[in-house]
Amino acid sequence: MSSIDYSQKIPNNVNLSEDRALQRALEQWQPNYLKWWDEIGPEGTRNFDVYLRTAVSVDPQGWAQFGYVKMPDYRWGIFLNPKEEGRKIHFGEHLGEDAWQEVPGEHRANLRRIIVTQGDTEPASVEQQRHLGQTAPSSYDLRNLFQVNVEEGRHLWAMVYLLHRYFGRDGREEAEGLLERRSGDADNPRILGAFNEPTPDWLSFFMFTYFTDRDGKFQLLALAESGFDPLARTTRFMLTEEAHHMFVGEAGVARVLQRTCQVMNDLKTDDPARLRAAGVIDLPTLQRYLNFHFSVTIDLFGADQSSNAAIFFSSGLKGRFEEGRREDDHRLAGRTYKVLDVVNGALIEKDAPMLNALNEVLRDDYIKDSRAGIERWNRVMEKAAIPFRLKAPHKAFNRRIGTLAGVRVSPEGQVVSEAEWEAHRNEWLPSPEDRAFIGSLMGRVVDPGRFANWIAPPAMGINRQPLDFQYVRFN
Ligand SMILES: [Fe+2]
Ligand SMILES: [Fe+2]
Repeated sequence: MSSIDYSQKIPNNVNLSEDRALQRALEQWQPNYLKWWDEIGPEGTRNFDVYLRTAVSVDPQGWAQFGYVKMPDYRWGIFLNPKEEGRKIHFGEHLGEDAWQEVPGEHRANLRRIIVTQGDTEPASVEQQRHLGQTAPSSYDLRNLFQVNVEEGRHLWAMVYLLHRYFGRDGREEAEGLLERRSGDADNPRILGAFNEPTPDWLSFFMFTYFTDRDGKFQLLALAESGFDPLARTTRFMLTEEAHHMFVGEAGVARVLQRTCQVMNDLKTDDPARLRAAGVIDLPTLQRYLNFHFSVTIDLFGADQSSNAAIFFSSGLKGRFEEGRREDDHRLAGRTYKVLDVVNGALIEKDAPMLNALNEVLRDDYIKDSRAGIERWNRVMEKAAIPFRLKAPHKAFNRRIGTLAGVRVSPEGQVVSEAEWEAHRNEWLPSPEDRAFIGSLMGRVVDPGRFANWIAPPAMGINRQPLDFQYVRFN
């Protein structure tokens, strides 16, 4: 039942061939998608054979298929988790009613907006990562980059299916728009800020996949609770792909730390200049990259108080992380939540109506999850007997959205003047010199089994292949 029909032009498990009009519309979008991939997807990779994983069904075993694929031939398709019979809406004003199989008229505009906003992030990250293949630290890492890229492409397909299937003509127009906006473009940028930042080097890529793909995870988890059943089923399957992206980020940073610690112990130094001269990334620089990616990513959750967030929840469109496991009334009227405010130059906590603070609730769930992984990174230093520890900066640090946008706050959470901010900026965030140094480390290493000097090899290969396996053939 959950297996995927690969005999179709567009692989799917939604019986696409039974809806001719929809099939035709999507088959018309497909060449535009491929044109987008060719123009702005991974640069110069058209003929590479990449050892990729393709889903053959949506159950957990369905991921077992690995083989060499040319990326433009990747079987992007439409995969929804199986339908749960009798599923009910379990939060908001419609609590207890049957989940919607079609879009309720009064929620149409909001649902479309949610789907377009999510959909826009997917091609954006492919665009941001477009040049990274030129400077891969190994064949293994190159393959992981491409796996992430094709899956983000598939996430775009997932959202475009919903737009075409449920939103008629304006859905089709939105689907075209998703191929027209460009990350970082001055005239027609991607919708959300972090998706217009460049991902110029592999340290940024690993931080991005750790922090920003994790934002994706939390957004998808909130949408997986949706009363609009097709959205819930689509995002459930997307989450299985997202897990790999975060693995790439977490393991990537851990391997950078491992290599740095090894050289610190070999040279018996923690002097950034000596470590840089030895071609590895010093730990304070890693902390600055972490500060940047953490702060830019938590802005993605939106303003700390938002009437849209309240509407999305109350109308049953977007739930909370683990909505079903929470023990409250799932309506939240009259409840409050602590948000930050700035009063007389100091940060204070104040109570806000919880419905309006749901962006903050999701952001706090995200922060908790992010911190757990930072603690796992710290075990690398602990094992190497190095006292340095990474930590998440304060939630108010370097924010551009919401109440905190107008105030300068140190990573420790002290409100500082503009002059103090400027004086310390390069200790807190990557400086132009840091970025130039990281850039200088980026050289292409793709001989099977070889790894760039600044990163340790992984503990094991993909699909139990050896580390010197040829994960990408260049032809
Ligand atoms: Fe994605
Ligand atoms: Fe992702």
